[in-house]
Amino acid sequence: MKKWLLLTFALVMAVSLLAGCGARSEQSNSSSTSSGETEKGQNTENKQTASDDKIIIKFSHVVAESTPKGQAALMFKEKAEQYTNGRVEVQVFPNSQLYNDDDVLLALQQNNVQMAAPATSKVSKLFPQWTIFDFPFAFPDVESVQKAMESEEIGGKLFSMLKEQKLLGLAMWDNGFKQMTLKDKPLLMPEDFKGKKFRVMSSKVLEAQFKAVGANPTPMPFSEVYSALEQGVIDGQENTLSNIYSQKYQEVQKHMTLSNHGYLGYAVITNAQFWEGLPADVREQVKKALDETTQWVRENGEKINSENLEKIKAEGTMEIHELTPEQKKAWMEAMDVVYDEFKDQVGEDLINAIKALRK
Ligand code: LMR
Repeated sequence: MKKWLLLTFALVMAVSLLAGCGARSEQSNSSSTSSGETEKGQNTENKQTASDDKIIIKFSHVVAESTPKGQAALMFKEKAEQYTNGRVEVQVFPNSQLYNDDDVLLALQQNNVQMAAPATSKVSKLFPQWTIFDFPFAFPDVESVQKAMESEEIGGKLFSMLKEQKLLGLAMWDNGFKQMTLKDKPLLMPEDFKGKKFRVMSSKVLEAQFKAVGANPTPMPFSEVYSALEQGVIDGQENTLSNIYSQKYQEVQKHMTLSNHGYLGYAVITNAQFWEGLPADVREQVKKALDETTQWVRENGEKINSENLEKIKAEGTMEIHELTPEQKKAWMEAMDVVYDEFKDQVGEDLINAIKALRK
């Protein structure tokens, strides 16, 4: 009888141990999903909490891996995993595989992804003040953006408002300056924009910028732009050289003007509760990985964009135009109305701080 009881007990233990193993390995299978798989809509049960187990950081973005953000995300992964001795695993999902930038903020708030780096223009959907980076010809160079982000009156203010919505801003990554492309004619003077349809990111300032020169702005997710250009749903678009080249817009646009009229950069954002719940030593190492990556982007973003310009030139499918000082002045004068238009929405103090950088 005693022997029978012991046998039953051993059997029950073995079964429950096996069941436990199954659950764990199922969990680890799903969390090691390769970055090539689509997981849209499957993430509500896959929320992350810090525990003694492996900590998974899902990092979602919309661009190609060859771009400044694409390369930075992979570098961050490598460093974070190395510095935490594998305790942290960063799963990078490029090319809008998981979310586009318009849904990613909600996904971050719900902890369905733990990190993302949406363009600042898209952050303006939740916080209109973030649209200050979209003002035309606001920044003479990337260094002045960095100076703005390091200042209390601009960067400090912008980062602190993220906390109101369960988010935490960890860093700012540069891409660079945007250029204009159009399917059928050079864009040299404001009149050349008249009646043309341009894709914009979801930002009211970007819409106003195109309206100021008589064009029709069409907000659209990044992942849909190539086919919209190909099918003639839109006539043109604005983006950085690395985004233009990696998305192959040179195949469907005949003209590009090197206008450098607007800045494109990213807010690297995490879910505040997730971040604060990380063990202190892990958080410190992940932050170290991120800071080093941010430094790398600063030093290499512009270089990647210039290399991409050479590649576009080498393909020879797109005519490239430079603006004369008079043409640039005409663009600036036509687009300047935007600053006054958004005074109330963005706040005069922020607009004045941006204007001061222009001088
Ligand atoms: C875009 O939508 O054009 C950009 O946000 C893409 C990017 O660089 O993230």
